[in-house]
Amino acid sequence: MIKAVIFDLDGVLVTTDELHFEAWKALAEELGINGFTKADNVRQRGVSRMASLEVVLEKTEREFSDEEKIDLAEKKNDMYVKSLSGLSKTDVLPGVFEFINYIKSKGIKAAVGSASKNTPLILDKTELADCFDAISCGLDTTRSKPDPEVFLIAAKKLGVAPSDCVVVEDSDAGIEAAKAGGMYAIAVGAAEYNPKADVSVKDLDSLYRALCILA
Ligand code: BG6
Ligand code: MG
Repeated sequence: MIKAVIFDLDGVLVTTDELHFEAWKALAEELGINGFTKADNVRQRGVSRMASLEVVLEKTEREFSDEEKIDLAEKKNDMYVKSLSGLSKTDVLPGVFEFINYIKSKGIKAAVGSASKNTPLILDKTELADCFDAISCGLDTTRSKPDPEVFLIAAKKLGVAPSDCVVVEDSDAGIEAAKAGGMYAIAVGAAEYNPKADVSVKDLDSLYRALCILA
């Protein structure tokens, strides 16, 4: 029986996936990489900051030391965090508040399971923080999606068995992580056509509206 829904953050709850892309693109341009595209960005979804950096660096012949890579990741994060300054409740994706209220009215718990170390800042700025019974993010984990760690920590914090959890994800890495953790997986957005997902929808708004028709 489903007892909890664990939501990814960037691209599922909030439009910050676009801001990640803009910051990586700006960093790529500083490095003289002009062909960094949305298709490259799809592979950055769900994975850690350092793994996302590798997707950018694949596009250049230049070699970087570990220290230089840390500096580059920090530079991107500074640009990204600056771009979050105007973030507010209006950046929460359509249907998110409604869907969370719906599951809560059914006694189902809600959690966040995100690779982002900026999760607390984003939840605070978008007024989503109080919507969740547990938060698991890049600050809690040592392994990045597709490892299931972030979702298993969320389930543990909720006190719910993994087999009673549903994950909502917009990344292929996240869908794999959910399945590796023994959870159901709902794919949205960029992951909509992932064949490993149990259910696929365009976004949470579509899912919520379908639930309302059936209610
Ligand atoms: C994920 C994003 O949610 O968080 C990735 O989909 C990003 O693209 C990762 O790299 C880490 O985010 P942050 O905010 O810690 O750099
Ligand atoms: Mg995401």
